[in-house]
Formats: sequence, C-alpha cells, structure tokens
Amino acid sequence: MKTSLSFGWSFLPGFDLASIRATPSDAVEVDLPHSVKLLPHHDFSEKEYQGEFTYIKTFSYEAKDKRAFLRFEGAMLQFDCYLNGIDLGHFIGGYLPVEIEVTSAIKAGKNRLVVRLDTREDPMVPPYGGSVDYLAFGGLYRPVYLIEKPKENAIESLFVHGDKDGNVFVQIQGDVPVMCHVFDGETEVLSFQGKQGKLADFAIWTPANPKLYRLRVESAQDAEEVLFGFEDRHFEEDGFYECGKKRKLLGLNRHQTFPYIGAAATSSLQKEDARILKSLGIDLVRTSHYADDESFLSECDRLGLYVIDEIPGWQFVSKDPLWRSRLLDFTRRLVEKERNHPCLLAYGVRVDESRDDHELYRETNRIAKETDPYTPTIGVRNFKDSECLEDIYGYNDFSCSSLDHGADPSASLKGAKGKAKLITEHNGHMFPTKKSDSLTRQTEQALRHALVIEEAFADPSYAGVVGWCAFDYATHRDFGSLDHVCYHGVSDLFRARKLAGDFYASQGEEPMMRVNTHFCSFPYDGASLPKPVVFTNADRVDLYRNGEKVGSYYPDFVKFPHLKHPPIVLSENVGENFHEEGLSKREEKEIKAILNGEPERMEKALSLRQLLFLGGFMMKHKVDKNYFVDLYYKYIGSWGTGNEARIEVRAYKDGTCFAAQSFGPVETTHFLVTPTASSLKNADTYDMVSILVEKADQFGNKVDFGDDALVIETEGPIALLSPKVVSLVGGDVAIYVRSLPVKKETAAKVLIHHRDGTIEVPLSVA
Ligand code: GAL
Repeated sequence: MKTSLSFGWSFLPGFDLASIRATPSDAVEVDLPHSVKLLPHHDFSEKEYQGEFTYIKTFSYEAKDKRAFLRFEGAMLQFDCYLNGIDLGHFIGGYLPVEIEVTSAIKAGKNRLVVRLDTREDPMVPPYGGSVDYLAFGGLYRPVYLIEKPKENAIESLFVHGDKDGNVFVQIQGDVPVMCHVFDGETEVLSFQGKQGKLADFAIWTPANPKLYRLRVESAQDAEEVLFGFEDRHFEEDGFYECGKKRKLLGLNRHQTFPYIGAAATSSLQKEDARILKSLGIDLVRTSHYADDESFLSECDRLGLYVIDEIPGWQFVSKDPLWRSRLLDFTRRLVEKERNHPCLLAYGVRVDESRDDHELYRETNRIAKETDPYTPTIGVRNFKDSECLEDIYGYNDFSCSSLDHGADPSASLKGAKGKAKLITEHNGHMFPTKKSDSLTRQTEQALRHALVIEEAFADPSYAGVVGWCAFDYATHRDFGSLDHVCYHGVSDLFRARKLAGDFYASQGEEPMMRVNTHFCSFPYDGASLPKPVVFTNADRVDLYRNGEKVGSYYPDFVKFPHLKHPPIVLSENVGENFHEEGLSKREEKEIKAILNGEPERMEKALSLRQLLFLGGFMMKHKVDKNYFVDLYYKYIGSWGTGNEARIEVRAYKDGTCFAAQSFGPVETTHFLVTPTASSLKNADTYDMVSILVEKADQFGNKVDFGDDALVIETEGPIALLSPKVVSLVGGDVAIYVRSLPVKKETAAKVLIHHRDGTIEVPLSVA
C-alpha cells in the first residue's frame, strides 16, 4: 500500500537540530513537489537556491503487522532524515528515488518526520565536481510516499520483460511463489504461475502503436501491478531495427526544468511535456543528462516515444573513489527505476561527453546489463576515437556551423567500429536562438536542424539523430549565458515553439503549416523579403496574391531527399498571376525569371543575356527602367505605395486544403489563451496547469514581437507560481498555476489583465 505524504509540510531555510522535536515558528506550510525558491525565469544566480533547508511533516499511522518504508521520489541533492527523533541516516537523492525502511522507527498514531535537505552542489556527488551546463535546482521536488509491505512474501523489485515472441519474463526479489496475470485493458489474456508465460496473440509496443499490457503479480500476502509492452527492436552496426525493419530515429534532448519552479513540476506538467515532444514529430527523447520523473516516462509509454535515459553528469569524471562509487550506485538505481518501461530504448551509462575511463565504464556497462539484460547501453561523447564499451556509440556532432554542412559521416567515427551509431546532439550552442530573435535567425536555426537530420538520414549507418534540444533551459553562470538561460531549444522555456519547433512538428503527421514570414519586407535587410519557407507536412502549398493564384509549390526533395516532409520554398514572386498586355510568350518568360530572382540579387545578378534582353525589350516597347520598377511594385514589393498585397497561403494534402492563412501588417490584435487543462485534480500531489497566452493579429498569426505586460490574479482554490506581472516574450508566455486542497469540486478563475481589458480563464479544482 502506498500513501502520499505530499501535502502539508512545514518548511524553512536553514537547519537546527532542535527542529527534530519542535517546529520553528517561522516555518511556512508547503506541499510537494516543492522548490526551495521560486525564481525569475532568467537573470538570477544559482547560489539563490543552494543551502540547507528544513522540511517537517507530521502524519498518522495505524499500526499493522507490516514493514514500512518512506520513499522520496526526488530530493535534490542530499538529505538526513529523522523519524520520531530517530536518525534514519544520510541519503543522496538527486535524480533518483530513495526508499528507507522505517519499520522500527514508525509508531501508531502521530509521527514526526524531519528532513535536513542540502541543496548545495557537492563536488563529491555527480553531476558535480566540474562544471555543469544545466541547473538541478533544489527541494523535495517529487512526491514522498509511505509504503507498507507484508513481512512475508513481499513482491519487491518487480521486473517484467515482454519479448517479440510473446514471452513474458517476470523477476522479483527473493524466492517468493507468485501467480501472474496479464491484462489487455480489463480483459485477462494470460495467467501463469512462476516467472515465465507466453501470450499467443499480442501486439508489439512501438511509437506508432504504443500497446501496453498490465501485469498483476500476486503472492500469498502481496500484489503488485505494472504496465509493460512486448518489444521487438534492436541496434546493429548499420542502424536501428523495429519489428524487423530498419528505420531512422528522430529525436530531441529534454531538460526537465521549467521557469520559476525549477524541476518541481507535477505529473500533469511532466505528461504535458511528453505530449509536446510527441507533437514535435519525433519518436525519441534523450533525458539529458539524468533520470526523469516517473510520470514523464509513463506518459512516453502511453503516447509512444522512445526514451534514452542517462546517468547524471556533464563532461567531468572524478578520480575520487567516493565520487565513482556514487556514479555506479546511480547507474544501478537508474536501471532499477526505468527497466519496466517499454519506452526505454537504451541506458546512457557514460557521463555525457566525458573522456574515456575504461575501468569506470566497464563497470557502468556491467551493472546496467546485470540489472536489465534486455536493454542496450549507449555512451555519449563528442570525439570520434573513443573506446566504446557500450552497444551504441552516441556522438554529439556539432560540425554544422552553416547551411553548407550538416553532419560528419558515420564512417569517420573511428571508435564506433562494429557498433551502432547515433547522433545524440547537434546544433545547440552552435546557433543559439531566442524566440524573440528575428524570423531570419529562427529560420536558419530550423534549416540547420533540417540539414543535420537530412545528412544523418542519408548516411546508411546512423541509427538516427537527436537534436539539442527541445526546450531552452537554465544554466550555470560559467556558461557565458548572460541571463542564465541557454537558448538552444527548438521551443522556449515556456514550451512555446520557435520556427525550429514548427519544423520538427512538420515531420509528424498531425496536419500543420507554419510560414516563416508575415510577407512584410521591412524586418529584412535591404527591405527585401527572402523567399518564404513553409514548414508543413502538406504535399503542396498554393500562394495567392490579391486573390489571384501565383503558383503551387512542393516539398524540397532536392535539398532534403531523406526528410519525411521537407520545407516548401515559395520560390516565385510572380507566377500564374502575371498578366501584361502585348508581351510575347518569350518576353513574359524572361521577365518572370528576372522578377523571380533572389530579391537581394535581382539587379546585381542579371546575366549578360538578361541585360541584352532588357535593352532590346526597352527599345522594342519604348519603355524605360521605370517600366520594370512599376512591375516590381505591382507584383512584389508594395512598400510605401499604400496598397499592400493581400497574401494567402493554402496547404493541401491529397488534394484537400487543410489550412489557409492570410498575412499582412498587424492592424488589430487579440490574445489567444490556451490552458493545458481546465480541471485540476488534487491526488497524490496538487495539480498544475500552464496557461499559454499568445498575441495574434487580425489573421490569427502570432505577433512575433509582442511584449505586452500582463497582470495576473487568481480567484478560488488556486495559487500563482508565475510572478503577478509577466510580459510576453516573442509574442507569448505561459502562466503557471497550482491547485490548493479542497473538500469538494470548486470553481476557480485566472484573471489576465492586459492593456485593453481582462481575460478570464475558468478552472475547476477537485
Ligand atoms: C553539449 C552538451 C549539452 C549542452 C550542449 C550545448 O556539449 O552535451 O549538455 O551543453 O553541448 O550545445
């Protein structure tokens, strides 16, 4: 039995042994998940959340003939724990759960649990010791549970594996006789005694069909349930195979941190992240560079997203035996925590981008294999001649520094001979891009990602490619990010997409279209609009100018033959809409070609033949240069003429238009408000909702430079985790709200005051 202890803790900074007996008067009441400090979304110091903190929880317990345990799902970083004055010891939580037996310390009636949490960056605990390009934040940032187990025949460390032939292998600790039942939904499809059974009719878990089964294991005194899947995938030297077919994996890295709350996100936000990642058209997420929350992994199981999980660290490996023993301990704990998840594709058993260390990595590999013999290991490095003790050579390829080169060939990875190869990071610091950056820069970020993916997919031996990274993230001061944020994400800290995010989304099958411009030329150098790029999974887009069709444009399979849905370039300024009296077919063709040249090169790059043609044309038709200037204004640039063109782009799939978008300068604006949920449910913990506020123009296009201030208020049993005053960043911002405990379902409201009024977001809390 599992009881949540996540509500009603007393909390205060500092620690005094006296608090083991009496709660200091300046303690405040908090609930878990909890961050020791709510921070601004940028411009703060990592010192602000480091120190000692006290957490106190009183809870009642009914004495039973059972063993009792406290389970801390996530305590960053280490803690001492006292139950009823008894010192239970010192524990390192970090990114992994800690389970402490408290059978002899717990008593019937009221119990007093006191935690001294130390959030300081201890160089003796990975990921610390060197520098680290991310922040771990601090707090009891995941739930705490009281767990009761029978004294005899407890089912512990349950491990299930379903293979490609329908075999179900069950492992538990000790020699406990068990009966196993497998359910498909509510229907029992298999039962067997002992450790192995076989299901005749079953589906393999894949991202496209994430079929889950439920295993119930019963002993004389105990029962446990777990979801699992049947797996048919493996890596070979020449790539990745799923259900016998070779295919390429497309992924992104994810840091689990959020604005304000650091890592203290409820399971609803964790699940929302999985949904967002899935909507980015990927099928693999690397949880760089540590183990993620259980609810994130469960949602990846449910939605169909492969996960590569990783031991904590960043480039640094200590020679100190204590540090090393802790890394080995983390390796075992990571695999024990993750091994039942069908989404778990490989364990990262090497500190990200660390140097070779034969002895250490031989051990991490051995531990991973011993704890889960079915799942491969991967090691991620940023050099090519590394010793590869893992099954998969993970390579961070940052060779793309322009739109001329995407990825290095897999054959250049000297250390990867005989091993599977996966690009585990690219882009990132090579082209940091803010959501408030120009659309030109955002387009280049998107195209750089597209190029690396194209070249990795073109290489027959890469198993796939994982970009750096899904979301912007907070980092240490020594990474040179002025405001403590690494702007490497294809989405921002608030999970709102940059154009690169739209490019990823276009690789999925959910119909979408995002045009990289508003067709207004002034934001561009020389006031010339570069050829617009459409990120879409349409098979064709049509461009209309003033209601007249210019032309149909298709995915650029010439530049990107290996992408599922290459970007579409609107390559013509003028097409079917060109009607000029008295021109021969040839003249029309020549003039259209000139008008369709790259705008910035139009005058400079005319060939001698074109210049001769223009000379002849002017003589024949008795016109001068202004004839062409007028054509330019009529068909292309309208700036300063007072009659901007109405532009429309329509997207088609199999001949059916699924999106039509108009563009032009902003005239009126409105706000689009999208909460991730409208009902919040207090369960094991409180609940959270993120409310995306976007500013849009009269066409519904996001106003990319929107920076309005918003004043936020709440009514009812909810509390704000965002500041009371926020501003849009590059056209949007998310507001974070949590539920407060309630006795019955109660209405609540978020009020968003803006310059012209107030938007009410109705919510309910149960
Ligand atoms: C890599 C590293 C990541 C991140 C990234 C930035 O070297 O593995 O954690 O720092 O660079 O691009």
